[in-house]
Amino acid sequence: MDLTISVLKADVGSIGGHTKPSDRMMDAVRAAADRAVRDGLLIDAYVGHTGDDICIITTHTRGDNDDAVHQFAWTSFLEATEIARQYGLYGAGQDLLVDAPSGNIRGAGPAVAEITFDHDPIKTNPVRPAESFFVLAADKCGPGAYNLPTFLGFADPIIISLNAPEDYYRITVLLRDNERFAIESVTSRYTGQTAAAISATRLHNIAGSYTGKDDPVAVVRNQGIFPAPEELISPYTKAHYIGGDARGSHVMPLMPVPINTAVTGMYCLPLVSCLGFSISPEGRFSESSTDFFDNPAWDYTRQLAQEKGIAMRSQGWSGAAMLPYGELEYSGFRQSIGDLVDRFAIRTNGHQPAARPVPTGDDD
Ligand code: 13P
Ligand code: 13P
Ligand code: MG
Ligand code: MG
Ligand code: MG
Ligand code: MG
Repeated sequence: MDLTISVLKADVGSIGGHTKPSDRMMDAVRAAADRAVRDGLLIDAYVGHTGDDICIITTHTRGDNDDAVHQFAWTSFLEATEIARQYGLYGAGQDLLVDAPSGNIRGAGPAVAEITFDHDPIKTNPVRPAESFFVLAADKCGPGAYNLPTFLGFADPIIISLNAPEDYYRITVLLRDNERFAIESVTSRYTGQTAAAISATRLHNIAGSYTGKDDPVAVVRNQGIFPAPEELISPYTKAHYIGGDARGSHVMPLMPVPINTAVTGMYCLPLVSCLGFSISPEGRFSESSTDFFDNPAWDYTRQLAQEKGIAMRSQGWSGAAMLPYGELEYSGFRQSIGDLVDRFAIRTNGHQPAARPVPTGDDD
């Protein structure tokens, strides 16, 4: 059968600031997911949160971008929003950026990552006798948060063994710009199978103003023709610097955390969770999941992230510590610079300023 894994995530309200959704909100989304399974829309569903973002992980046979599946997620997020409003929680409905999208909800605010593939282990599918994958869910992060680890997890070993260095450099030229370019999917060119799907929306571009950080999700298949989980998650030991943190405006390390972790640390450290599943022949999740970052091995990385975070924040507003002006979301900074424009004067030393050459695009 063609099986689809759809992951849909939204920040629709949280307790005591942007920390975590309330139990009532989580219960409402879990109940909605259970109903969707009972009604036959979904085969299976799991609901968890990373920071203040609620993540719904589903299997079904309706394909990518299915209106009914997306509408189920949207109405579930609306239900949670209603609860957030009722209890006066912070940021109620924050990621629901448009009014009632009629079909699929890509571009409407929630993060969406989906993969559809032939799932037929009973016929002992030679490509994929067993399906295992994990879901990454990030909070307080820019759209390119997974660029470096996804590249290191997939492209490094593949490019070395497949001898395609020319693409290696082209890819890195783009991926270095985490706010501008983000990996959307990774596909095996030998089998045509999709290995990874990543949500890479820029919420600022949809909403027209800052409405919280982009906070991407990713579905990553592992084992067999794909890398093993340890190969895919090893790059997260770097606690690499990304755009995110408070007001999405800082350059801070990404800290791997267990699922259902609240944002309560110092600053507003970017977080990522990683939950692994297997899928039964009927498309249901394994009886439990594997929480990859809930392991003492990751304590060292969490410590490293703290240290890197403190080092960066001790630099305050200067230079590399914050995102460049064009990416800055602190309205006070923008306002202050705007207010100063009229007070600048051009120094001419008594001469007329020389006409500036038109840039050709060839300049270094
Ligand atoms: P085991 O299946 O023996 O646990 O090891 C698998 C492996 O080689 C991991 O990459
Ligand atoms: P989210 O609301 O997207 O989690 O980010 C909030 C933020 O900008 C922290 O200051
Ligand atoms: Mg929030
Ligand atoms: Mg959030
Ligand atoms: Mg967000
Ligand atoms: Mg084993």
